[in-house]
Amino acid sequence: MKNLKSIILILITMVTSFLIGCKDKNQNDQNEAQVAVKSYSEEDLYRPNFHFTPKKGWMNDPNGMFYKDGYFHLYFQHYPDGNTWGPMHWGHAISTDMVTWKEMPIAIYPDEKGYIFSGSAIVDVNNNSGFSKDGIEPIIAMFTYHDMDAEKSGKLVTQTQAIAYSLDEGQTFTKYEGNPVIKNPGIKDFRDPKMVWDSIHEKWLMVLAAGQKIMFYSSSNLKDWKLESDFGDGIGGHGGVWECPDFFPMVVQGTDEIKWVLLVSINPGGPNSGSATQYFVGDFDGKQFKIDPSFEDDLNSTEHKSIWIDYGRDNYAGVTWANIPDSNGRKLFMGWMSNWEYANVVPTETWRSAMTVARQIELQKVNSSYRLLFQPVKELTNYRSTKFKKESIAINGDTKIIDSKAIDLASTEINFKISDLKNSGFAFKLTNKQGDTLAFGYNHSDKNFFVDRRKSGKTEFSEKFADRVSIAKRTSLNADLHGTIILDKTSIELFFDNGETVMTEIFFPNTPYDKLSVESKDKEFIIANIEVNKLNFN
Ligand code: FRU
Repeated sequence: MKNLKSIILILITMVTSFLIGCKDKNQNDQNEAQVAVKSYSEEDLYRPNFHFTPKKGWMNDPNGMFYKDGYFHLYFQHYPDGNTWGPMHWGHAISTDMVTWKEMPIAIYPDEKGYIFSGSAIVDVNNNSGFSKDGIEPIIAMFTYHDMDAEKSGKLVTQTQAIAYSLDEGQTFTKYEGNPVIKNPGIKDFRDPKMVWDSIHEKWLMVLAAGQKIMFYSSSNLKDWKLESDFGDGIGGHGGVWECPDFFPMVVQGTDEIKWVLLVSINPGGPNSGSATQYFVGDFDGKQFKIDPSFEDDLNSTEHKSIWIDYGRDNYAGVTWANIPDSNGRKLFMGWMSNWEYANVVPTETWRSAMTVARQIELQKVNSSYRLLFQPVKELTNYRSTKFKKESIAINGDTKIIDSKAIDLASTEINFKISDLKNSGFAFKLTNKQGDTLAFGYNHSDKNFFVDRRKSGKTEFSEKFADRVSIAKRTSLNADLHGTIILDKTSIELFFDNGETVMTEIFFPNTPYDKLSVESKDKEFIIANIEVNKLNFN
């Protein structure tokens, strides 16, 4: 009996120490993981290497972008005193190449009339506004005043349009005493004025989002605005409110034909949930925009009655730069790299959100219709340093392409080509030792590009963030598939088929991704050409 007792005691001791051992091991593993995570500061892990972020505080839409005397100006919706959306200011940054940005002091502050919502800015080279002094060309900003007190007291009308001018290169602005220049006719969502000089009809135009329509105004002096027409009833995506429009003429690539392009951001109602930007191609007679019939047919054949500038979840409220000189001649665009579904809770504390890379837009005739093509601006290639290049890589299962010892995968431009695509498709994978994985690629069977961030790292901050794989139908009929991938610490920008299909998404790995591999179900899958460039910003 005594023996039995001691045997049981020994057994209990053995089992307990085994269990304790296991617990210790788990604890140790966990500690190691925590140590690894903790050894990165927020700056190290998540501050982008080259995408614009404010030094501190909240940021959303890009605003008032114009070019003058060698500088690209970028303003942005900004709350400097908090890391969630709040009283809106216009932050300011400048760049000589749209890649490296210098943050400037805040340009426009909210006042007793309200928060300073999104809008645009132009250089008034002919002093149409009369704000010039001592021969200085004035810069005119137009924005929406959002009256927060009115909103809090439950009023429907909270938004009016106002202007301000700058005589010091866009650093500070004086608000016009005649504000508002456009009163609210009784519409709840009435905002985001985008001005453009119409050199064809020789007048200033302005497009404004009003509910789920766009209103077109014209002016000769930038102070008095005449409503010309509206657009949007029964056309395009209407899954949410229309915001941040842009409107400009473009020459169709390789022809003399001019078409007008209307960008309209919509929230929610995007192709992969939440915020996104759709576009329309048509004609403008100086008063009214008419969608091109073949483009309208195209829209009606899509699921959301929309064609999107970007099918990823993180490119919103983007607009184009004003006053790009004819000698440059490009249409240049930048968007906010987030989505209202989770923008306020992404896992950074010091700042929140980044902008996309600046992109060049082209308009192309595709069959009898039109498509915009977006590409990263060529200035980005000036930062190329170390290069890895292979003419042909055979993919067997999951095949490593490169790791971060050879090229930093958080400051990278990748160009690849798949020749004569016919089998099942491929998935690129960015991974780290923690097992975080960002997958993206193309499924040939259903002709879908995809980005899968479901296991990309930190995702639990929002239910919406990792609830799906984002997809985009391939529209190009080319046998070869070209792609450009732009990688930063927390973002991927995918430009497929020369920018006919774009996908931009953000992610937050627990530690940096350190390996890039490619997987294919095909027995013989060849990447015909791949070039990985490290982008160097030091
Ligand atoms: C778009 C938007 C705009 C508005 C701004 C406010 O993201 O909702 O319509 O002007 O943000 O910050």
